[in-house]
Formats: sequence, C-alpha cells, structure tokens
Amino acid sequence: MSDLKSKHDMVIEIVNQVASIAAKLGIVHNNTDDEILDGRHITIRGKKMLYFGSCGYLGLEHDPRIKAGAIEAINKYGTQFSSSRAYVSSSYYQQSEELLRKMFFGKPLLLLQSLTVGHMSNIPIIVGNDDAVIMDSQVHDSVQTAVQMLRNRDVHIELIRHNRIDMLESRVKALKDNYRKIWYMADGVYSMQGDYAPVKDLYRLADQYEQLHLYLDDIHGMSWAGPNGTGYVLSQGDYHPRLYLTTGLTKAFGTSGGLLIYPEEASFNLIKNTSKAFIFSIQMPPMVLGATVESAKIHLSDEIYTFQDELRLKMEYFNTTAKKLGLPLINETSSPIGFIGVGKPDVGYNMVKRMMNQGYYFNLSVFPSVSYNNTGLRIPMNRLHTYEDIENLLTEIATQLPQALEDSKSSMSEIYKHFKLVA
Ligand SMILES: Cc1ncc(COP(=O)(O)O)c(C=O)c1O
Repeated sequence: MSDLKSKHDMVIEIVNQVASIAAKLGIVHNNTDDEILDGRHITIRGKKMLYFGSCGYLGLEHDPRIKAGAIEAINKYGTQFSSSRAYVSSSYYQQSEELLRKMFFGKPLLLLQSLTVGHMSNIPIIVGNDDAVIMDSQVHDSVQTAVQMLRNRDVHIELIRHNRIDMLESRVKALKDNYRKIWYMADGVYSMQGDYAPVKDLYRLADQYEQLHLYLDDIHGMSWAGPNGTGYVLSQGDYHPRLYLTTGLTKAFGTSGGLLIYPEEASFNLIKNTSKAFIFSIQMPPMVLGATVESAKIHLSDEIYTFQDELRLKMEYFNTTAKKLGLPLINETSSPIGFIGVGKPDVGYNMVKRMMNQGYYFNLSVFPSVSYNNTGLRIPMNRLHTYEDIENLLTEIATQLPQALEDSKSSMSEIYKHFKLVA
C-alpha cells in the first residue's frame, strides 16, 4: 500500500474511533428536543442546558427581520427554485449579490451553496499548473480537500507551520524563480482556538513579492468584525490587489452559503463560467436568499457596529473572568471563540460530561482537530448570551476542572506544559 493510502486509512480509523467514543459518552451526534430555540439554550435528552456551541456569533438567526425575509421569499417563490444557476437564478440571487457587493466595496463576488463547495469551485481553477501552493498547517479541512484536487495535475504543494511568517518568506524566496504564482492559503480566524492569521504581515510580504497571492478563508471572521461586517481580514487593511478572499454566511451572518470575492472581474467571470457548483448543482432556495437580503441590509447600516460592540464587550468579559478564575485560556483574542486548554483527551471527555450534568453544553476540540495533548473546551460566544451566563459557565468550569483532572490523574501543571504556558 502507498504511504498516501495508508495515511488515509489511519486518519479514517482515528476519526471513527474518536467519534464512536464521544457518541457513546453522549457528547456528540446529539439532537435538540426543543420546540423553539432562543439562542441561549438547548435541550438534549430532556435536559435544558445553556448552549455555548453556536457559530451564529451575532445571534442574527433569531432577528425578526431576517426571519421575515425568509418567510416572504417562501410565500413569493415557493420552497425551492430547482435550476442550475448556469441557466437562470431566482431574482433573490441578484438582490443578495448586489447588496453583498456593496458591503465588499464593489468587489466582484459569487454566492455559492456552501464554502466547501466554494473552495472546490475556486481552487482548481484559479491555481494554474505552473503555480505553487503553500498551506498553513491549520488551514481548514475544506481548503485542504480542494487542494487535493490539484495533486493529479502535479501542482507543487507544501505545508508550513501555523502562522510562521518567517517560514513563509523563506519558502517564497526559494520558490519564486520557478513558479508563476505562489498561493498562500490560510484561515482569517481559526475555528478551533479563535486565533488570527497575521494579515498585516501577509500584506507586507505580498507587497514585497509580486508572485505571492493570498487565499484566505475568513468565514469565522464574518460579520462580527470589519467594515460593514466584512470580516476580520478586512478589519486589518483594505482589500489587497492579490487577495482572494473567501467567507460564508453560515456563521455570524445568520443565513447560508459560501462567498467568493475577487480582486478583479476576470477571475470572477472565469469562475462564474466554469465552476462546477454554478453549473452542475442546484441553487440555494429562495428562503435562504430572502433572509440573506435582510441580513445584508443590516450589515450595510450602522446597526452592525452596535452588534459588533455588544459581542466584543462580552468577549472581553469572558477573557477577564476566565483569567480571574485561573483558567488556562489559550490564545486570548477578541474573537468570539474561547478556548480553555485541558490537555489529555480523557480530561476533555470528562469535563464535557460533567458540564452537561451541570446544565452547560459546548464543544470539545480533540485529536485529530488539534494535537493529542492539546484537547480543549471550544466555547463560541454569541451576542445573545448574558454576562451572567458567561460568569456562571466559567465559574462552573473552574469548579469541575480540578475534579476532572484528578479523575484522569492529570494536573494544571500538565496542562501548562502541554500548551507551553507560563504559570
Ligand atoms: C474555516 C471554515 N471554512 C469552511 C467551512 C465550510 O463551510 P460550509 O459549511 O459553508 O461548507 C467551515 C465550516 O463550516 C469552516 O469552519
């Protein structure tokens, strides 16, 4: 068996094992029992819990204007518009894309069914045979999967360590005379630990090396950051002439779909004319787009900044409270993804179980999403959480963590060691 095939089998086996253990413990593959959701709670197996698992960071999925937009679109157009966009798109696409384009300062953009599909439509076409691809080792799986599609064309692909600008620069120097374009692919905000790409440094390198093209996935930075809620990347500087920005509406924007933004019209037209998602897949239903139109209007108003401020203050409260309680907060940032390190996977499983028993539900970030002893409690915050919710959650974590560590014969100093934290 080739190395590639045995690595593939090993990864599937590990993911299968991790999912099976977690499902047996009742911490994944769950369903909500709620008849109505309020944005703060969920009920699983009859137990109502405070919910810190949603990536709807601004809680916009509960905004009455956005819900009304979806309902109106159903009433006008029905529950689907079953055609490939290559033939005809419902009028809601035109309205959505026009408003989104306004949000993104007139840059050409394409709204597709999801960002996974977006990367698969974008990457194999914009990356040429004479180009090289460098990926951050933690770039999202959907980017890495789309890059796999380049392997049968023998495109040069390599991975570098997370956020290592120095390594990126030395690889660009080494490759620049042999390749037409060098693509650096990374996330704007990393979904597990909420840390950021060093956007300003990336722009500086792109200014210095004309071959360097930036392909950034900023889906987790959408809406809660940036002018008009255009995301974390654009909160750091204007649109770079060699930036290929990708994002999505499934998180803080409150609706659905993947968004591909281009620095110029030519690449936009190329993808529109040739991408598989545009030609071979059915378009999103009018209800999603009706909601998108209303959310885009909010993004184009000053209200988006009020929402951003509300969330930022709550995240600051999360950070200061976690530190006051002595919790091992990893990568303290202003992003709405909190991450509390617990070390070994056993401690993580134990903590989630304990916290569910106490009435709190959040996600566990465990190998292979993160390295083996870097298990953590991944806690996305949303604007609808109250300060009291945050305080109660963190206080309970501080009570349960020493007991979970004791159960697994681990300790705080082991967590500090695994995450290379200074006590
Ligand atoms: C960073 C990142 N990129 C891409 C995706 C995939 O987006 P979609 O669900 O629209 O396919 C996700 C997950 O939702 C993600 O977290």
